[in-house]
Amino acid sequence: MAKGTVIYDTLSSSSNEEREEFINNRSRPIRRNPLFYLAFTVIISLFVGCIILLHYSFNVEPKRNVIMMISDGFGPASETYSRLYYQWSKNLPVDYETPLDSILVGASRTRSNSSMITDSAAGATAISCIMKTYNNAIGVDSDEVPCGTVLEAAKANGLLTGLVVTSRITHATPASFSSHVVHRNLEHLIAEQQIGITCRPDEKDLIQQAQKGGFGYIQSRKEFDNLRTDSSFPLLGLFALDHMDYDIDRDPVAQPSLSEMTQKALDLLSKSTEKSDKGFFLMVEGSRIDMAAHENDPVGHLHEILAYQDTVATVKKYVDANPGTVMISVSDHETGGFTVGRQVTTSYPKYIWYPEVISKCKKSSFALGQMLFTYDKEDRREFASGMVKEQLGITDATKEELDFLGNKHGASDYAHHLSEMVSVRAELGWTTHGHTGVDVNLYAYGADSHQLAGNHENTEIGRFIRNYLSLDLDSITASLKKNTPQTRGDEGTMKKLHMRGIDVHGDYLP
Ligand SMILES: *[C@@H]1O[C@H](CO)[C@@H](O)[C@H](O)[C@H]1NC(C)=O
Ligand SMILES: [Zn+2]
Repeated sequence: MAKGTVIYDTLSSSSNEEREEFINNRSRPIRRNPLFYLAFTVIISLFVGCIILLHYSFNVEPKRNVIMMISDGFGPASETYSRLYYQWSKNLPVDYETPLDSILVGASRTRSNSSMITDSAAGATAISCIMKTYNNAIGVDSDEVPCGTVLEAAKANGLLTGLVVTSRITHATPASFSSHVVHRNLEHLIAEQQIGITCRPDEKDLIQQAQKGGFGYIQSRKEFDNLRTDSSFPLLGLFALDHMDYDIDRDPVAQPSLSEMTQKALDLLSKSTEKSDKGFFLMVEGSRIDMAAHENDPVGHLHEILAYQDTVATVKKYVDANPGTVMISVSDHETGGFTVGRQVTTSYPKYIWYPEVISKCKKSSFALGQMLFTYDKEDRREFASGMVKEQLGITDATKEELDFLGNKHGASDYAHHLSEMVSVRAELGWTTHGHTGVDVNLYAYGADSHQLAGNHENTEIGRFIRNYLSLDLDSITASLKKNTPQTRGDEGTMKKLHMRGIDVHGDYLP
C-alpha cells in the first residue's frame, strides 16, 4: 500500500500529562533490544482509529462511489432494541422507523472458513477479499496467502479511498481492508502496512515516518474542526490513545463523533474527486457496538448504536445528493447473544422489558469498571453504592451485588458485574460474552442497492462492491505474490502469541 494514505488523527480526552507522555514516547527512538517488540506494540496501541484516505491518479470512467458501513457486533435484536428505546424515549409513534429500518434489503450469513461463529477479522476479510477465511485472518486466505482487497483494487483503479473507525485503526475490521497478516494481533505489522513504509531506520516512530512520507497528520478536535476541505492527501487522523471513547462517555470537546468524522471524510473525498470522473471507496465502522456487547453492557451498546444510526442518516443524505453513490450497511456478526426480554425469576415472565432502567444510566460499565478498579481508598463498598445510585440510577442494589463491588477485582470483572446489574433490572438478555452465529441484517441504499435483496453470504457484499466499481482483485493478489508484505511476526512474536494460548488458525488453544 502506500504513500498516498491519509489518516486523520487526534489524541483523546486523556489528560495533558498523558498526551505529553504520548508525544515524548513517540519521539523517543526505540532500539532493537529484547523489549523491542513489547515497546513497539505499546506504541502501536497508542494509535487510535480514525480515518485513512488514500490518493491516486485518475482516469476516465463514470463516477461511482461506495460507502461500506460496518456495524461491528450488531445483531437483529440490537436493531429492535435501539428502535424501541428511541421510540420510547422520544415519545415517537409506534411505526417509527430508524435510519436503518427504511433501507433493509435482506440478511447476511456470517460463518467463516474455520468456524460457524466468525470473528471480526474473518468477517471483514470475507467482504474485503470476497473470500471466506479462518478466524483471526487479516487480508489473507485460508492458506495464509495475502489476498487483494476491494480498497486496494479501488485505489489501483484511481479511486480515492478512506477508512473511518472508532477503534484503533489497526483493529481487525479496518486492518482487513488495508493490510495482510496471518493474525489480527500483529498490529505493529498492520500499522506499517497501512502507512506504507517498508524501508525504515531502526527507530520506529511510525507517525513521524508517516509525516516524512507525505502524510498530513491531525490529532486534536481543534485540528479536526479547522481542517480544510481541500486538504491534500494522504491524511492521518488519530483522536485517542487507544480506541476512541464509547459515545456515552465521549467528551465532544476532545473527540469528534463517528457521524462528524464520516461527514468530514465525505467532504474531503467529494472535494478531491470534484473535477475527476473517478469516485471513492469509503469504509466506515461503528467499531465499538461490538465491544459494549462483549461486556454485555446494554448502555454502552445502545449509545454506540444510536451514534451509528446518526451516521447512517448522514450517509443517506450524501447518497441522496450524489446519485452515483451506493451505501451498504451490514454487521460482520452478532455479539453477546443479545435479546429483548428475559426471565429473571422462577415464575413465568411478564411480556415486558424496561427502557426506563437504561435511560437512568450515565456511563458505560467499562468506564465505571475503570473507576472502581482505580479507586484506592478503604471505603470501596460505600463508593460503589454511591456510584451505582448516581451513575446507574440503581437504588435497590442487593447485599451480594455491593459485596462484590466492595472487593478487589479486575476492571473488566467490575464492568461485567455492573452490566449484569443493569441488564437484569431492564430484563434484557445475553447468552455469551463472545460472538454468535446468527444471520445479521443487510441494509443498502442508492445506486443498484436492490441487487442486494435477499439472504446472502457475507462474501456477496464484497462481490457487489467489486462489480459496482469494476474492480480487479486478482491483479492485486498477483502483485502481492510478487511483492509480499510481512505477514508474520518474528519468531519471538509468533511464540508469544502461542504462549498466550492463541492459535493462528483457531482462536484459543485448549
Ligand atoms: C476452508 O478452506 C479450505 C481451503 O480453501 C477448504 O478446503 C474448506 O472446504 C473450507 N471450509 C469451509 C467450512 O469453508
Ligand atoms: Zn467482537
